[in-house]
Formats: sequence, structure tokens, C-alpha cells
Amino acid sequence: MTRAFIPRLRARGRGGMILTSSVEALIGCPWSAAYSASKALVRALGEALWAELRQDGIDVLTLCPGATDTPALARMGLDAARMPHVMPPAAVAAMALDRIAEGPTLISSEHYRATFDRLLAMPRDQALLALAARMR
Ligand SMILES: NC(=O)c1ccc[n+]([C@@H]2O[C@H](COP(=O)([O-])OP(=O)(O)OC[C@H]3O[C@@H](n4cnc5c(N)ncnc54)[C@H](OP(=O)(O)O)[C@@H]3O)[C@@H](O)[C@H]2O)c1
Repeated sequence: MTRAFIPRLRARGRGGMILTSSVEALIGCPWSAAYSASKALVRALGEALWAELRQDGIDVLTLCPGATDTPALARMGLDAARMPHVMPPAAVAAMALDRIAEGPTLISSEHYRATFDRLLAMPRDQALLALAARMR
């Protein structure tokens, strides 16, 4: 997708892209290893492109949502109505569009931003074990 769009945005001299990653990109999330790894790839891609494309006037925002009330949650057997700190998808999308020029990375949920700030300040082994217990 980025290969397809970047030449067109470059030719136009302006534009923007939002790459949807996840808060699970911020650390290897136990019990969600493959998803977490795939989202880490998206984050690395988006952040690198943000730096590469600034000189071309192209905004790149890597969006890291927390829990968002989409059909994906129901498919995982989760009931959004019973989960705390779930955001409506329209609010996440609006925030991303609003802040597209403020890249490189946006954690759309204040709750998850605070949680991951605390988690990432911990020694990595302790953070991973705390997360493993919580995610299970
Ligand atoms: N929901 C969350 O809590 C959450 C949290 C963090 C990050 N995310 C990320 O947010 C993104 C959207 O997730 P979601 O929760 O909205 O999931 P979703 O409810 O499953 O929606 C996924 C969307 O992607 C489309 N899609 C899937 N495969 C596609 C393909 N090969 N080509 C084109 N479109 C395709 C689907 O289209 P159809 O309906 O036509 O199949 C659907 O509209 C994902 O990258 C997910 O990892 C979600």
C-alpha cells in the first residue's frame, strides 16, 4: 500500500497516510505474540516512513489504538459493553485524522497511553511478566 501511494503523494507534493498499528506494538505482548509482532512491524514501517517523507511534505501517522469497539472484539469473544476503556471507532478515526500532521506515533487512548508509559518504564522482564499475568 505504501509503495503504491508514496509516488503519487510525492508527485503531488503533499498528502498523508495513517498506518494502523496497535498498543500491542509497544512491547511483545504475551498470549498475543504473532499479532503483537505484526503490529511492531507496522509501527517500525510507519515511524521510518514518517522521517523519510517529511522532506516531501507527506505526513505519516502510525496509529496505535487500544481496545476499540469494532466487530473484531466480538470475533474474539469479547463484549465491548463490559470492557473498561473501550473507544468508539469513529472517535479513534477522527482523532487520527485530526493529528495526522503531529506524527510519528499516536496512542489514541489516554488510558492506554498512561498504562504503557508505566509499563515501559519498568525493567523489561518485569513488564513482560506483569503483562503475561494480566493478559491471561
Ligand atoms: N479493535 C481493536 O480493539 C483494535 C485495537 C488496536 C488495533 N486495531 C487495528 O485496527 C485495524 C482495524 O481493526 P478492526 O478492529 O476495525 O477490525 P475489523 O472489525 O475486523 O475490521 C477489519 C476491516 O479490514 C477489512 N479487511 C480485512 N482484510 C482485508 C483485505 N485483505 N483487504 C482489504 N480490507 C480488508 C475488513 O473488510 P471486510 O469487512 O470487507 O472483511 C474490515 O473492514 C486492524 O489493523 C487492527 O489490528 C484494532
